[in-house]
Amino acid sequence: MAEVSNTPSSSRKMYIESYGCAMNFSDSEIIASIMSEHGFTATKDELDADVIFLNTCAIRDNAEQRIRERLKQLRSNKRQNSDLIIGVLGCMAERLKDKLLEEEKLVDVVAGPDSYRELPKLVAEVDEGGRAINVLLSREETYGDLNPVRLNSNGVTAFISIMRGCDNMCSFCVVPFTRGRERSRDPQSIVKEAVDLQNAGYKEITLLGQNVNSYLWFGGGAKKDFKSLTDEEKASSVDFADLLELCANAVPNLRIRYSTSHPRDINEKVVRVMAQYPNLCNYIHLPAQSGNTRVLDIMSRNYTREWYMDKITMIRSIIPDCGISCDIIAGFCTETEEEHKDTLTLIEECKFDFSYMYKYSERPGTPAAKKLTDDIPEDVKGRRLAEIITVQNRVSKENNQAYIGKTVKVLVEAASKKSKNDWMGRNDQNIVTVFPCEHYQKGDLVEVLIERITTTTLIGKAIGKTTI
Ligand code: SAH
Ligand code: SF4
Ligand code: F3S
Repeated sequence: MAEVSNTPSSSRKMYIESYGCAMNFSDSEIIASIMSEHGFTATKDELDADVIFLNTCAIRDNAEQRIRERLKQLRSNKRQNSDLIIGVLGCMAERLKDKLLEEEKLVDVVAGPDSYRELPKLVAEVDEGGRAINVLLSREETYGDLNPVRLNSNGVTAFISIMRGCDNMCSFCVVPFTRGRERSRDPQSIVKEAVDLQNAGYKEITLLGQNVNSYLWFGGGAKKDFKSLTDEEKASSVDFADLLELCANAVPNLRIRYSTSHPRDINEKVVRVMAQYPNLCNYIHLPAQSGNTRVLDIMSRNYTREWYMDKITMIRSIIPDCGISCDIIAGFCTETEEEHKDTLTLIEECKFDFSYMYKYSERPGTPAAKKLTDDIPEDVKGRRLAEIITVQNRVSKENNQAYIGKTVKVLVEAASKKSKNDWMGRNDQNIVTVFPCEHYQKGDLVEVLIERITTTTLIGKAIGKTTI
């Protein structure tokens, strides 16, 4: 492999574009950190860049099509600057590996989610006239020692990655193949990152992982079940509830959120810790995927509709006003009309504040692609998705209506998209809230009286500044 010639003195410019989930956006900050140690500074202008990285997603076919289109556009950037280096990173890079170099001739670097420490070397190889690839997955890498460079930051909210990979193997999902085995990050490095963010003036952090409820630290390395730990490992182990408590105590002035929870693994211990600490936000993203037990079974989600409903009851019995959101897949293999209707009633019964809703997209190599038939016609998937969206929108509106006349605490994040005279933030339950700016500032926690609502937004007026 080539020597790393891109030393700090060379100061080249790097432009990173992130796609997909929050973990990818968080990874881009790790990439920026690694590259900055090798003399690359981040730029927001792609035309000014020596290196363009696309940090890609592979979760659905349309996510990959977007990248293909973007690569087509980048041909003209390369025509204008023949030294321009184009790298495809992240989940699509990991899924397609060297096929991507074969198929997309303008791509110089292909790097998977566990090989970002190698990026400077890969770029150096391209400098010497080659094309470079590293898609090795790791059982240990957590990038826990790095200080992420906050990209496109609003200076108020930030992500902290607490674990990587996923061991769940839901039959529809490509993530275990693109991000490898689950591993948890050292809690001390997580707490340090939280404290650093608090010192830098941030007001809210979101702890990230594909299945945060299975977070378990016992000294490092690939995931083990609590049961298989040695007595010594058990004594010093830190689970997700412990981690939440460590963070809640370490940064009492930061709001803390987390994502994503898995219905099988979320437990009372976690919800009780949330109830105990005011800075742990009353909000849980708890993807159900389907409301039908047979469909959940062939999705390999390892829970039933009743199990899911029991978790909702447990959460609401401990935190009555907990915000709950969901992910739903429409038209999974062999789903009948009756089974689809079970998803509609699940939304009504659980009263989700909002959901991310998708048509099933078969991903090559996944258990569903190998063993099941993607047999629901596209138009039926589309119709079922529309029905799901209609029910969810009605439920969201009903939930939001209950806020009219009440006050909520909103952390100001940015100007509202619709008017620069309004601030936009979120309440404790993660519902977007908008109110006139007046003298309030970004980063303020403001008590807002809700006067009107839409399906997605609470609208009100500020009453005064407040504290957590
Ligand atoms: N770890 C999270 C989900 C990560 S992927 C969890 O287990 O809940 C985010 C969402 O994308 C999933 O919840 C699912 O709703 C959706 N998704 C994943 N694979 C998909 C596929 N093949 N087709 C359509 N949607 C998919
Ligand atoms: Fe995918 Fe399931 Fe893991 Fe979520 S828990 S990332 S859906 S395999
Ligand atoms: Fe996409 Fe990878 Fe996230 S596939 S959803 S970027 S883990």
